[in-house]
Amino acid sequence: MGLFTKKPINELIKDSSDGENGLKRTLGAGNLIAMGIGAIIGAGLFVRTAAAAANNAGPSVTIGFVVAAIGCAFAGLCYAEFSSMIPIAGSAYTYSYATMGELVAWIIGWDLVLEYAVGAATVGIAWSEYLNKLLEVFGMHVPYQWCHSPFEVCDGAGAFAGQAGVSGIMNIPALLIIFLLTLLLIRGTKESAFVNGIIVVSKVAIVVLFITLGWGYINPANHANYIPEPTTYTDVQGISHNYGGVWGILGAAGVVFFAFIGFDAVSTAAQEAKNPKKDMPIGILGSLVICTILYILFAHVMTGVATIEDFRTQGREASVAFAIKTYMVDHLWLANLVTVAILFGFSSVILVMLMGQSRVFYSMSRDGLVPKMFSELHPKYSTPYKSNWIFFVLVGAFAAFVPGDIVGDMTSIGTLFAFMLVCAGVWILRRTDPDLPRQFKVPAVPLIPILGILVCGAMIAGLGWTNWTRLGVWLLLGLIIYFGYSRKNSKLR
Ligand code: ALA
Repeated sequence: MGLFTKKPINELIKDSSDGENGLKRTLGAGNLIAMGIGAIIGAGLFVRTAAAAANNAGPSVTIGFVVAAIGCAFAGLCYAEFSSMIPIAGSAYTYSYATMGELVAWIIGWDLVLEYAVGAATVGIAWSEYLNKLLEVFGMHVPYQWCHSPFEVCDGAGAFAGQAGVSGIMNIPALLIIFLLTLLLIRGTKESAFVNGIIVVSKVAIVVLFITLGWGYINPANHANYIPEPTTYTDVQGISHNYGGVWGILGAAGVVFFAFIGFDAVSTAAQEAKNPKKDMPIGILGSLVICTILYILFAHVMTGVATIEDFRTQGREASVAFAIKTYMVDHLWLANLVTVAILFGFSSVILVMLMGQSRVFYSMSRDGLVPKMFSELHPKYSTPYKSNWIFFVLVGAFAAFVPGDIVGDMTSIGTLFAFMLVCAGVWILRRTDPDLPRQFKVPAVPLIPILGILVCGAMIAGLGWTNWTRLGVWLLLGLIIYFGYSRKNSKLR
């Protein structure tokens, strides 16, 4: 059997209804939309938006959101078709195993580690920033060296005024939150989905509050130079970015694309959905639409209330709380409320990402591509607890020792790449298996998949060569593992 051996779809579906050692089916459409929003609104909005405005696009970060949303909508439709057709755990990995064969499936599964595990680390780092904002209320903060990676040096902005020149050592709060959520995850999805429901409501509420209250504080001068002239900007860590113009917008789109990541995590839970064929497309597209509207409004208010210079200096970390405290002084209560809600909100994002990660490796392990321990379930909670612990170590290491900008952009580029492959997969399967039953069909194939590939590709281009290199190295590492281990242990062979 060759590298392009495909897993038959009927076999996939049979695997999924194999109740004995399968996961429990407990989630309905409402749970899935909540899970989607729970996974979607997070660090991308509350941290990366300011970074994209500062480094890439200024106020035109809103246009970046539009570009990212368009790419996600095309890819989201493709995800929905796949998940309505192959309603089992594993997301893009599973879909590509059925359509493009084992090697591509491996590449996607490996690439999804960037999306879920490295993504969870990014949000953990963002959580650490907002924790400091909360501590400030009590006149405290975690010293710079214990909430930053060794690759970051303090510029003395904001709460770290006395620590200019100090280098980070380890991000302890980020590590701590990953640890706590790993424990929660091991207790089981149902409880986690309940906690998630409460968090989603508060998260949406604060976004709406910020938009409505902040609208009155927009300073038109901040929006005057809406699309800045193309130039380059070198950030505090010495990394240079294309700022302004079309490349600035594409770069910003690639950065804030992070804010949309997660709707596809819904598809990793297909095996736990009560009625996957109907509920998956609703869950995926429903959460995407709601978030897109909120994001564009939010970014418009953010860049209107505070200046780009703020986002480059003292407002770089925990930017939303900063903007409220500095400019919306009649609403200081909001800053604290937002901070608390964000801390809970980030937790729900991390939870879904960690869950998505363990589910992908659960599927890969059952296929023999990664060791068996990734699919061993807890005797009482039926969760892949060994996998959860292994990923705690990996995610924790990224969260503790790598800067947020780097893990954030690695997450974006890895996910964009997976999205492109999913778009291609839908198109391929329409040609190779046109008669397979599809509960939901992408309109205008191949146009939509092609547009999805182009828009996601443009964002990858915007992310620049340092990120291309990181993606390349990661994929190379994956290929070494595939040819060294997975190929020999594949169950399909
Ligand atoms: N979309 C998620 C976030 O922004 C990953 O945190």
